[in-house]
Amino acid sequence: MEKITSLCKRRGFVYPSSEIYGGMQAIYDYGHYGTLLKNNIRDAWWKAMVQLRDDVVGLDSAIFMHPTTWVASGHVGGFNDPQVDCKKCKSRFRADHILEEFGINADKAPLDELNGYLDKLREEKKLKCANCGSTDLTPAKIFSLMVKSNIGSPTDELKEESVVYLRPETCGGIYLEYKNTIDSLHRKLPFGIAQVGKAFRNEIVARQFIFRTREFEQMEMQYFLHPDMMKEKYEEWKATRWAWYLEYGIEENKIHWYKHEKLAHYASEAYDIEYNFKTLGGFKEIEGIHARGNWDLSQHSKFSGVELNYFDEKTGEKFIPHIMETSVGLGRLVFMFLDQSYTEEIVGEETRVVLKLDKRLAPVKVAILPLSKKEELSVPAKEIWNTLKQNFIVEYDETQSIGKRYRRQDEIGTPYCVTVDFETLSDQAVTVRDRDTMAQERIKISELENYFKEKLG
Ligand code: GAP
Repeated sequence: MEKITSLCKRRGFVYPSSEIYGGMQAIYDYGHYGTLLKNNIRDAWWKAMVQLRDDVVGLDSAIFMHPTTWVASGHVGGFNDPQVDCKKCKSRFRADHILEEFGINADKAPLDELNGYLDKLREEKKLKCANCGSTDLTPAKIFSLMVKSNIGSPTDELKEESVVYLRPETCGGIYLEYKNTIDSLHRKLPFGIAQVGKAFRNEIVARQFIFRTREFEQMEMQYFLHPDMMKEKYEEWKATRWAWYLEYGIEENKIHWYKHEKLAHYASEAYDIEYNFKTLGGFKEIEGIHARGNWDLSQHSKFSGVELNYFDEKTGEKFIPHIMETSVGLGRLVFMFLDQSYTEEIVGEETRVVLKLDKRLAPVKVAILPLSKKEELSVPAKEIWNTLKQNFIVEYDETQSIGKRYRRQDEIGTPYCVTVDFETLSDQAVTVRDRDTMAQERIKISELENYFKEKLG
């Protein structure tokens, strides 16, 4: 973890938010390379989920939504975590996470059951604050994850009647735009709506870097269908999402399915894809795939008074569509790809740190490195940069030794480095170095663009 977080800060991937003011817990900013990596992952998801399909359309709904949305969905009053506080150092923990450390699975367990387990650990003198070691911990109590705002409110106060929520999940916007999508795009069932956007949760967090944050991006797809199709489509989507991870270089033995035994009352099936994090010491949830029944549209129809039915012209049947969702956190994917690709190799006497990212996800595709700062080399090197940057994210770097520049590019996962040397002036060719093998080949400048188009896709 220390190695990844320090690389992220040192090389401009991820910074703690508001650091000069002491920071904000579980909120992070993405620097230049982090933003490029995150955008590439987002685009890879969008390509698979929307661009390559004829049954999924896109959406970008607002973060702020009518407050009744979250009453109808059950979040107001029901979206809670069990919180335990250390009375000595004021650290805050999730009760189910404390129990997980003792091998007790208390996910979604009621408060009295959680406190039963905690009391037993207390009696056995095993219950201690993970931060300061104190045994003076409170019993578990309910803590709402909803983040409130006064947007549009005539008062400064966050009164229940004037409060507006920052969405805790992006799918709420999809349910509310189901009707507009049907009416404007004339979609027939089954079809999906996908969106990427920010979500906010007042998480009780352990130190897990960008795994669990209070502000995060979700990539969600809600697939609307007739209930008779649920089983078939659920299996199809499970296979589709599994294949996506393999396509982008996640090793098959590093992911597995986790089946939820305790389901929400409206759900018929829920599986998570879990990834085995080196940094977090085990399998953790990456993506959820849920069969949600017709709960969401039924609730919004009930609370809004607007019919959210679907009329099947072929069968004459009128019904509220059922929903199958895929839901993944974008920051969590950034973390997973960093965790998987971070590699240390011994080269000569040195340790080489390299991010072996899929080339499509790498923040920078090509680095142009003239061997000398002299105009003789910098002028042709900049010409190459000017040509290639029209199609790829390309970086120009003429500072420090060539060895140091290679290491810098390895650390951010750049698949190719182009060295412009004095021979270039006579043979009109450059040396291209491959990040993973470190093999070098000589390529004519006139062939470079096509060479990279082929290599990078
Ligand atoms: N609409 C369903 C839903 O939101 P969830 O299991 O609460 O389900 C889905 O969240 C995914 O969103 C998770 O698998 C995870 O990748 C991501 N996620 C949830 N909470 C997060 C947080 N606090 N920080 C980062 N990612 C989070």
